[in-house]
Amino acid sequence: MGKDVIIACDFASRQEVETFLDRFEGKKPFVKIGMELFYAEGPDIVREIKRRGHKICLDLKLHDIPNTVKKSMRVLSNLDVDLCNLHAAGTVRMMEAAIEGLTRPDGTRPLLIAVTQLTSTDQESLENDLLIHEPIDQVVMHYARNAKKAGLDGVVCSPLEAGAVHSACGDDFITVTPGVRFADGEIGDQKRVMTPAQAKEIGSDYIVVGRPITAAPDPVAAYERCVAEFVG
Ligand code: C5P
Repeated sequence: MGKDVIIACDFASRQEVETFLDRFEGKKPFVKIGMELFYAEGPDIVREIKRRGHKICLDLKLHDIPNTVKKSMRVLSNLDVDLCNLHAAGTVRMMEAAIEGLTRPDGTRPLLIAVTQLTSTDQESLENDLLIHEPIDQVVMHYARNAKKAGLDGVVCSPLEAGAVHSACGDDFITVTPGVRFADGEIGDQKRVMTPAQAKEIGSDYIVVGRPITAAPDPVAAYERCVAEFVG
């Protein structure tokens, strides 16, 4: 599994993201496009960033009936994204339908990973809002196993969970981990964080890094520091 740093391009408009990517000149970092940018600019923003030569993780977290997810995934596959995601809470059948929709006639498809439980969900909201009474770490592992069973390539998880996910689902099951901060950096609103070097140590396959790069005085230097610490 090739390790890589994915930059979370959490910008509100095409102009902002293009100005940001222009700073990288010849470099072509793997970028994540989230809901805000996608809903503001539409699929053209994906085509444009792809045209510039970047790999794209499209973070739209689909969750609907299997047939709707299948047909929507077909659209994303035609957009030629490299990695996309859904909520494992949509059931194994929904995840299987997603794989069917993503798979092109020639058998290729973007990587597909699942969100297990959002890191904003805690034990209390799991119990009170969702009526799930198992410990949250067991719920996360169960959802990861469901994703594997459905044929997905991996999960989004906290770097703190990456080791356990690999133990439960195998070393080649991808872990994509946000919540990364430099040892000497601001933590912001993230709660449980790790440095790129610690994420490497624990076995994350991809780290998703937003503000430590996008809000840095020199984003290119911050990106290179992440790559040096995480990929080596
Ligand atoms: O700026 P920061 O490094 O905190 O950005 C992390 C990115 O990863 C954001 O796009 C955020 O939405 C995303 N993310 C997260 N925690 C999750 C899932 C996604 O921080 N559990």
